Amino acid sequence: MNETGRFITFEGIDGAGKSTHLDTLAQRLRRHAAPVLCTREPGGTPLAERLRERVLTDPMDALTEALLVFAARRDHVQQVIAPALARGETVVCDRFTDATFAYQGGGRGFDLAVLTQLERWVHGDLQPDLTLWLDLPAELAAQRRAAARAADRFEREDAVFFERVRAGYAARQAASPQRIVRVDATLERDAVWRQIDAALEARGW
Ligand code: TYD
Repeated sequence: MNETGRFITFEGIDGAGKSTHLDTLAQRLRRHAAPVLCTREPGGTPLAERLRERVLTDPMDALTEALLVFAARRDHVQQVIAPALARGETVVCDRFTDATFAYQGGGRGFDLAVLTQLERWVHGDLQPDLTLWLDLPAELAAQRRAAARAADRFEREDAVFFERVRAGYAARQAASPQRIVRVDATLERDAVWRQIDAALEARGW
């Protein structure tokens, strides 16, 4: 638990439906615990947003990808997340380091021990207080994505890749079951939201 503000992250494979619930969560939190800062990864600072653009479009190997998302994260933590938590604000972030373990670790098969070291270098003891992992099968996520806008470099990956990403999330959840709450994202929107709401209620938030 961070001693200051609360740090809440959203995770899941592309097409899990994070965005709508992130907005609803921010509204809910603002009723009880203002101020709330909403941000995203990779991104959240001018430099990190430029790195995001490159990571989502340029071909690169898994190590380059991991270094760029961690470089973006370092800037984001230093410039935005840590100062906001120190001011006592609630930070809601669309993805964080669990995504690196899931996508670069699970999806690309990159060395988890190296990712663990980078995690420590980049954000030390800082961890989310609560992570909401919206979980659903890759095939269902692909159907949901089909209706959305043009696909980026990750979204063009096949269901086999996304099942590996999903397994990466499952491994992270098994390692930190208190912090990471699995939300069944196959259900309709209201039922997904009720699970998120219950996770906050359980913490008295
Ligand atoms: P996403 O968060 O899904 O944004 P949008 O809803 O705008 O598409 O896209 C970010 C992509 O970046 C997503 O496909 C996962 C990927 N990613 C990584 O591969 N590693 C990371 O560490 C992070 C934060 C994201």
